[in-house]
Amino acid sequence: MGNDVVRRGRLSGERTGEMIHFLSSMAADRHIAEADILVDIAHVMMLSKQRILDGVTTRPLLAALLKLYDEGIPESVFEDEYEDIHAGIEAFLIAMVGEETGGRMHMGRSRNDEVAACLRIRLREDLIRQLSLLIRLRQTLLSLAEEHRETVMPGFTHLQYAQPTTLAHHLLAYEQAFSRDCERLSEGYSRVNQSPLGAAAFASTGYPVNRGYVAQLLGFDGVLENTMDAVSSRDFALETLSSLSIMMVGISRLCEELIIWSSPFAGFISLNDAFCSTSSIMPQKKNPDFAEIMRAKAASLIGAYTSAAALMKGLPMSYNRDLQELTPSLIRGIEDARQSTSLLNGMLLTASFDRERMREEAGKSYSTATDLADMLVRRCGLPFRTAHSIVGRAVQNGGLDRHHLDEASVSITGSPLPGSTIQDTDIMDALDVEKSINLKIAPGSPSSFSVKRAIDERKKRLDDDRHRTDQLAMALKEAIDNLIFETRRVALEQ
Ligand code: ARG
Repeated sequence: MGNDVVRRGRLSGERTGEMIHFLSSMAADRHIAEADILVDIAHVMMLSKQRILDGVTTRPLLAALLKLYDEGIPESVFEDEYEDIHAGIEAFLIAMVGEETGGRMHMGRSRNDEVAACLRIRLREDLIRQLSLLIRLRQTLLSLAEEHRETVMPGFTHLQYAQPTTLAHHLLAYEQAFSRDCERLSEGYSRVNQSPLGAAAFASTGYPVNRGYVAQLLGFDGVLENTMDAVSSRDFALETLSSLSIMMVGISRLCEELIIWSSPFAGFISLNDAFCSTSSIMPQKKNPDFAEIMRAKAASLIGAYTSAAALMKGLPMSYNRDLQELTPSLIRGIEDARQSTSLLNGMLLTASFDRERMREEAGKSYSTATDLADMLVRRCGLPFRTAHSIVGRAVQNGGLDRHHLDEASVSITGSPLPGSTIQDTDIMDALDVEKSINLKIAPGSPSSFSVKRAIDERKKRLDDDRHRTDQLAMALKEAIDNLIFETRRVALEQ
């Protein structure tokens, strides 16, 4: 317990290894360790600028922190005995430069504002990475859509053949959904990238800290003003997990389709062997295990969100140690979402689509019956509902030729079809799968014409999103590069 610089004054009492391990957040803190070095550096820089610390203390402190930044954090810092990374790093610095110097770093702050800052720093990087992965996935969907503008396939409602569509149209549906996920994540980014620093335990501090300066050093977009909210809110994490859960629901739905399409009874798609497993007993099997695990990862994300939200809902102001338990859910959620997005992209890029099989199924089960009803409306002047009933009755009676339609018309309206000029060839024309698709020219429809227009528009939107994400990444890199540059200068000052 001797190394525990936080605990040694107030508390004694021996703890078992089990107790120490239970309380420690070290395992999850590995993910925020690098962020913590930056937070320490920026805090000391601010203390120095405000003349709260003099140069005699600042220089060796910054030099020690830069050493950690440059050379990495030694494994000894991650011992459970430190409760968390913040205490571990502080103890390490005190051991390195002595307490007279190292013992001054924690002036005017608390682990409460420190950990909140670390989480936000880590999360904003994860968000940028996630946005880039989503952008790559959308790019893949757009390229596949371009390639499959003419690939006709059955479209489903209730998983029953409904109307023919194209693979391009189907893939663009997912691209549109994933673009909304990008929107949600980048809107959330602006709320993540706010600085809690200067809040200390919750009531701020009597030292003349400069909250704006430390925020700016770390590349935050602003300061979380109320210091109680700054240390105790985690809605930025809930929002991220919720957006990632929604994204994973989309990924899971696409995986579900890939699983169905790759099943032999559909045979629409063949997944690359690398993305499949086999059976230990049935030697012939090729199973879509990656897609299945991604489907399950959506459940993990929802679990991570639920656990984080449940943890928060009963907490009074301000910091409560329960908050520590949110970090593993957040880290796990981000990691599961990241892997799924990346691997789904690879799975799509390497899959092969069987155009013939899709085309073969597209016209089955009277999938163009709606077009026939529409033709009867146009040619015979029937109300849509009457035409719908006539065609439905003809299907029930087993055929969509002139004879069956007249028979159905008699049973529905009392007389044969009014348009005596309608020939069987007109009927066949109305039922033609390709013609049916290419009649759908409203924006967002499956016709080759509409799909081309949609792809052009979606590409522009994707470029904008890519540009915005690159800008976020550049702004962060610039802020951190400047911080380190300035710190080196101050550390070497005479
Ligand atoms: N490990 C803690 C966490 O993750 C850091 C803050 C500890 N603060 C405290 N008052 N015990 O939340």
